[in-house]
Amino acid sequence: MSLKMVVNLQGIVTPRSDRPFGELEVREGVAIVVEAGKIKAIAPEEELLKQFPDAERIDGEKCWAFPGFVDPHTHPVFAKTREEEFEMRIEGRSYEEIAAAGGGIRNSVRALRKTSFDELVELTYWRVREFLDYGTTTIEAKSGYGLSLEDEIKSLRVLKHVASLLPITIVPTFLGAHEIPDEYRSRREAYIDLLIKEMIPRVAEEKLAVFCDVFTEKDVFSVKESEQILIAAKDYGLIPKLHADELSPLGGAELAARVRAISADHLVQISDQGILAMKEADVIPVLLPGTTFFLGKPQYAPARKMIAAGLPIALATDYNPGSSFTQNMSLITSIACTQMKVRPAEALWAATLGAARAIARDKELGSLEVGKKADIALHRVPNYLYIPYHYGMNHVCKVLKEGRVVVEK
Ligand code: NIG
Ligand code: FE
Repeated sequence: MSLKMVVNLQGIVTPRSDRPFGELEVREGVAIVVEAGKIKAIAPEEELLKQFPDAERIDGEKCWAFPGFVDPHTHPVFAKTREEEFEMRIEGRSYEEIAAAGGGIRNSVRALRKTSFDELVELTYWRVREFLDYGTTTIEAKSGYGLSLEDEIKSLRVLKHVASLLPITIVPTFLGAHEIPDEYRSRREAYIDLLIKEMIPRVAEEKLAVFCDVFTEKDVFSVKESEQILIAAKDYGLIPKLHADELSPLGGAELAARVRAISADHLVQISDQGILAMKEADVIPVLLPGTTFFLGKPQYAPARKMIAAGLPIALATDYNPGSSFTQNMSLITSIACTQMKVRPAEALWAATLGAARAIARDKELGSLEVGKKADIALHRVPNYLYIPYHYGMNHVCKVLKEGRVVVEK
């Protein structure tokens, strides 16, 4: 079996599965040996050069090696961007007002339905490619701009196809419960019926998704409706996730605990009981401070309260054309630090191992440890504080996916 070795590194910075939330291991002068796409050894470079003299060398260019970012909440399958809504918000209209007037998600739905599979593949391909350029090697990606059986299936197939074209792991989520589409506005029960009786069974049958997500929000899906949908999804083997307590405190976190969701995401308005319930039920909070920033809202999710309660957090971009249009996980760590007072080490932990937990992939992803996938991002920084500190930048000099160099600057 051919061996590779990443040499000439400054060192590695990584969470470890046997250490607590927020703790990073920093080891200088080590090299990384890769075999069959997995990490085989991490040890001082001189030792490894002696032990594996024939390994193919990959130049680490004196960078620090981090685990590739895992982005556990993205919406990359859409037909057109919505910059006009961005301008409307700057001029004073809120995200909720724009949505109520038929904009927002429903705007994207109308456009996606008119767009072919091939066109969507092309659009999604370049967007996903950009995650890699910023050092992200795994994304969770949702459907949710189709909202009909045919268009949701189309969106999930687009994800599957794009995953076969690019060296990135895409973990798919069915988000048919993202909005009530135009044609069901006056008969929402009929849409919930369609979700439960046709869409979920079909998605499960075709194995097109791992998770089922619901936008639990005022004027979207109530807690009761969300519960119905997620229980049905579980019956078909889809693991629940939720958009919870983002714009209004409905009790989405408590619901996430009740249905044993893998994660509850957003949580700006989470209650103290919600925090306790999530802790009890081991639900990972996925925080999306880029969304709060981009919507220009004053209040961020109470990250410190969650951490104090013993909840390990995860961070994600929420990449989508409406409420958060960036693929840059480094920038998300900056916003987490400055706006939620998350410490830099905690933010980097949350963007790697925490994020891997939020998509149930922490056994194979999210840290540089022997046996895990060799998904490695080399950042040209003097130390790890620089990732959130020198903000808005792309520090990546190389990205390895399962040991293969896939980005080189
Ligand atoms: O996570 N909240 C619902 N879904 C997205 C927004 C999608 C959109 O505006 O297109 C979110 O913020
Ligand atoms: Fe989202």
